[in-house]
Amino acid sequence: MSEFSSLPMLRAALPVTHASLLQFPEDPIDCMRQLHRKHGDLAVLEDQDQRLVFVFSPDLNHQVLSDTNAFHSRFFAVRGSRKSAQRRVTAGLLSQNGAEHRDTRRILKDVFSKKILPNYHATICRLTSDLMAEWQIGQVKDLNSEMVQFMLRMTSSLLFGLDDAAFASRLGQMIDRWVHRNHEVGMGALVSASQFNQKYDELLQMADQLEESIQQLFIRHRSETHETPNVLSLLFQAQGSHHQLSDEQLTGHATLLFAAAHLTTAHTFSWTLFLLAQHPQVMHRLQQELNAGVKGEIPTVEELDRLTYLDWVIRESMRVMPASAYSQRITAEPVTLGTIRLSPGTPVVFSQYITHHRGDLYVDSDRFIPERWETITPSAYEYLPFGAGPRMCIGAPLAMAEIRTALTLLLKRFHFQIVPGSMVNGQVISTMLGPTSTIPATLVSSEKIPDTAPVSGTIHGLVELPPGAHYSSRLRAA
Ligand code: HEM
Repeated sequence: MSEFSSLPMLRAALPVTHASLLQFPEDPIDCMRQLHRKHGDLAVLEDQDQRLVFVFSPDLNHQVLSDTNAFHSRFFAVRGSRKSAQRRVTAGLLSQNGAEHRDTRRILKDVFSKKILPNYHATICRLTSDLMAEWQIGQVKDLNSEMVQFMLRMTSSLLFGLDDAAFASRLGQMIDRWVHRNHEVGMGALVSASQFNQKYDELLQMADQLEESIQQLFIRHRSETHETPNVLSLLFQAQGSHHQLSDEQLTGHATLLFAAAHLTTAHTFSWTLFLLAQHPQVMHRLQQELNAGVKGEIPTVEELDRLTYLDWVIRESMRVMPASAYSQRITAEPVTLGTIRLSPGTPVVFSQYITHHRGDLYVDSDRFIPERWETITPSAYEYLPFGAGPRMCIGAPLAMAEIRTALTLLLKRFHFQIVPGSMVNGQVISTMLGPTSTIPATLVSSEKIPDTAPVSGTIHGLVELPPGAHYSSRLRAA
């Protein structure tokens, strides 16, 4: 494990907390909040000779995210042996660094460019209409599972041209379990915890199965004709060009794209619908904008581009409840970070959640206030739901197109009344902040603005909801 030291003149100010590193994966937000409160912008969690370094300020985010020579990506701590399926399925953008990373970004950038986005519009509209065809006013739906299933289907259609809900669901579950296991074993590698190491063999088996499913997907994709464009067909075309992507490389890219895309978008949807339902004035203003700005049932790309308040709502939802709550790098060379000197091999964590909740950057930072976007223009390192710098999310424009379009379609027809008394929990699993409970909501007509519903659960520790959203034991007794 790495060594580190403070710069000589600042030795007294070494921002170290001595505690078990397992505190961090157990409850990342609580752990980071405590470190931030105690040490400020830079903190170290240390357990014997093992440590995790945390940065919480825009300046330090900037350094960690832009200096890609010193701070390498290591999303998957466990890569497996050279010939293993684990090595191949982790061989995508998230694992690459240096020239290899730059080359892959060049190849993938065309597939996700703003220019190509209108091609995906019809698929996004069709799948959202299919979802709504299954819904009826008065039904109670769990927004969490609805959005996860919806995004599995959407992601497998947009990425792979595959409109097969059962396959998408199987693949999605397989990928989620594998990502989670990677994270557990990765943390184990970091902190040498024996209970994690035992899971290593299972991880390798999961990677074998996953690779097999991705290869079946390729066979199926090549045997079908695709009328609308999808990411995989564009990548297959790139294979034929000078880019020379091998099937093996494509296996890694396809796996990691799916993994990076579907839960992040699903969680963003769930939180945005929940926050809208709990803030009637915001819902009212948004409805007015949608009524005035979208003439038919299906919004056009041009109409969507003009929906400013919708944009503020999504930005604010991703600020206060960022689906990617934190991410990490590993130092590849000796480097000075703030007041400390790090040697190679030191893990460094930056956090969207903590940065976005800083009171010096955002007034009433824990509250959901879309109107703030009328006057604020945070820098790329103050507001970073999609990361920032050379590794910023390559799928961000696609994700935004999906969210803007599908949200508009859904809200033109339905509003969501959260079932009063529900317990709504949110937690960071792997690196993602998502609901860990159901979010039961009654489907109501879009002519009705839902009331704020009293709810209990860990949601209250994540975002400050309006007074009517607090479910007390007094209410329960009544
Ligand atoms: C709301 C949805 C999404 C959120 C919140 C999100 C968030 C992020 C964040 C924070 C990063 C940077 C991680 C880091 O710096 O360590 C990232 C990277 C990435 N995302 Fe997304 N993402 C979303 C949707 C998507 C979609 C739809 C795709 C693909 C179709 C995608 C593909 C990727 C890839 C490939 C990377 C790695 C980029 C690189 O290392 O160069 N993401 N995403």
